[in-house]
Amino acid sequence: MALQELIYTSLANPASSHAAVQDILKSSQRNNVAHEITGLLLFDGDRYIQILEGVPQNLDLLFSKISSDSRHHSLELLHRGPVTSRAFSDWRMAYEEMPKGLLDDLAENMAVYAMENEGEILDPEDSFGARLNGMFMDAIAAE
Ligand SMILES: Cc1cc2nc3c(=O)[nH]c(=O)nc-3n(C[C@H](O)[C@H](O)[C@H](O)COP(=O)(O)O)c2cc1C
Repeated sequence: MALQELIYTSLANPASSHAAVQDILKSSQRNNVAHEITGLLLFDGDRYIQILEGVPQNLDLLFSKISSDSRHHSLELLHRGPVTSRAFSDWRMAYEEMPKGLLDDLAENMAVYAMENEGEILDPEDSFGARLNGMFMDAIAAE
């Protein structure tokens, strides 16, 4: 079945942020393998950016759960579209904590990229996943 990537951003509810991330990652480890979902979660203390990869039906189910999760708000879908391969095939949900404020710029950058490529089928190396994977690898290397 067709593979898609879905990217959104949201703001963490302050009461719960760091403990919440641990719980979210536990749920992701448990659930994503069963639903063949892979991806990356970025968090800078205020903002989340998450990319999810999977078949449309499983993405719909998970995204509707995530959309009604009270640990975050102001959720904004940045992009959803077809991909020919996964950028995070080895991860149920990769996670990286980013410097504060960095994700505001990244979310804006992704929104512009989505507008520029509206309706296009992206080459594998130009997918949102490939771009975020490159950034993720750079962040790991810098640790
Ligand atoms: C920013 C954010 C990202 C999340 N990502 C995932 C995810 O990748 N997989 C997942 O199963 N739940 C994720 N969740 C949690 C879901 O909203 C939901 O709480 C969880 O899937 C329920 O799991 P359970 O039915 O096993 O208790 C996320 C929640 C937030 C706030």
